[in-house]
Amino acid sequence: MNKFVLDTDLISGEGTIEYIRTLPLKKVCIVTDTMMVKLGIVDRVTGHLNASRIEYKIFDRVEANPSLETVNLGLHHIIDYKPEALIAIGGGSVIDAAKAIIYFCIKTKESLLDKTHITKPIFIAIPTTSGTGSEVTAISVITDSKTHTKIPLKDALMLPDVAILDSSLTLSVPKPITADTGMDVITHAIEAYVATGANRFTNLFVEEAIKLAFNNLLKAYYNGNNKIARQHMHDASCMAGIGFNNAGLGINHSLAHAIGGHFGVSHGRANAILLPYIIAFNSGLEDGLVHEFGKPYAQLANLIRVESEEMTVKIKSLIEVIKQFNKKMEIPETFEAYGIDPEAYYKAIPEMAQSAFDDICTTTNPRIVTLKVLEKRLEQAFRGR
Ligand SMILES: [Fe+2]
Repeated sequence: MNKFVLDTDLISGEGTIEYIRTLPLKKVCIVTDTMMVKLGIVDRVTGHLNASRIEYKIFDRVEANPSLETVNLGLHHIIDYKPEALIAIGGGSVIDAAKAIIYFCIKTKESLLDKTHITKPIFIAIPTTSGTGSEVTAISVITDSKTHTKIPLKDALMLPDVAILDSSLTLSVPKPITADTGMDVITHAIEAYVATGANRFTNLFVEEAIKLAFNNLLKAYYNGNNKIARQHMHDASCMAGIGFNNAGLGINHSLAHAIGGHFGVSHGRANAILLPYIIAFNSGLEDGLVHEFGKPYAQLANLIRVESEEMTVKIKSLIEVIKQFNKKMEIPETFEAYGIDPEAYYKAIPEMAQSAFDDICTTTNPRIVTLKVLEKRLEQAFRGR
């Protein structure tokens, strides 16, 4: 069975933030963080709201890895203010927080009222980084700061109604974040392409995301003001998000979640370091099973114009291209080179492998894995062999 869902209106292009002027709204809540306010990016939204005489309030308390406490504050904010719409403007954390606020708002109301009396606010997501694809997914990750655990939420209630992909908001993203988020896009696309939920519909989006990301990430990295490359990366991020929201991801993400949780490595950077090792394993390259598992990776290599008829050569070249991307963007080859203490890392391997094993992304990985397999990947990504 092939299943594909896309329920978000996509508005894409430089300057498209002005689309919010056209929305028939009277009262909105803007969810954001203090950096977006400081950089004047929130003014871009409020300018249009003022021009259209739309009343608004700003909730700017979202932090990186948003906590349950923040979500709770935001929840009270919208329960008091009763907006018709929520506009989330910021990176993945802001959009995730807004999703959780909507989720808990509806769930709270459902526990008190009859469903016919509940209206979900219109949810408009405006990403300011090109990476998470959160603007088209029904997933949010919230942190319980008391237990230091991540709470993954998945519910169609959280799917944005409108995503505005305006690259002019991404021009000031610094180089290391452009690198990390860009490699997150590439990892989403590659994992979604080989995931067990992949089908011809998801592949359509993922193939375009791969081509756009491989052709534009370095351009956006070297020149952040390259508007065309920035827009292509913004669109690629969204397309990869549509792909993995339907197809699933794999152990690259499971392991990145575990390493990020233990050692605070940024999500995209952890993905980027792991990617060559995970492709070598998942494609069968590492253990001579390439004819069984390698085909989708070889097809991916075709998309980035690797010239060879030989499947093994194609996969090796794909890995080499990814290594070159990392090198050019100063992403280290291993977690040891990244600077994690070896003793602390090796001590954490069993726990990280277990949490990766239990991670929902592992369920759609193309190869079935054991704890030992995951431990081996963690060791390789540390030492580089
Ligand atoms: Fe990701």
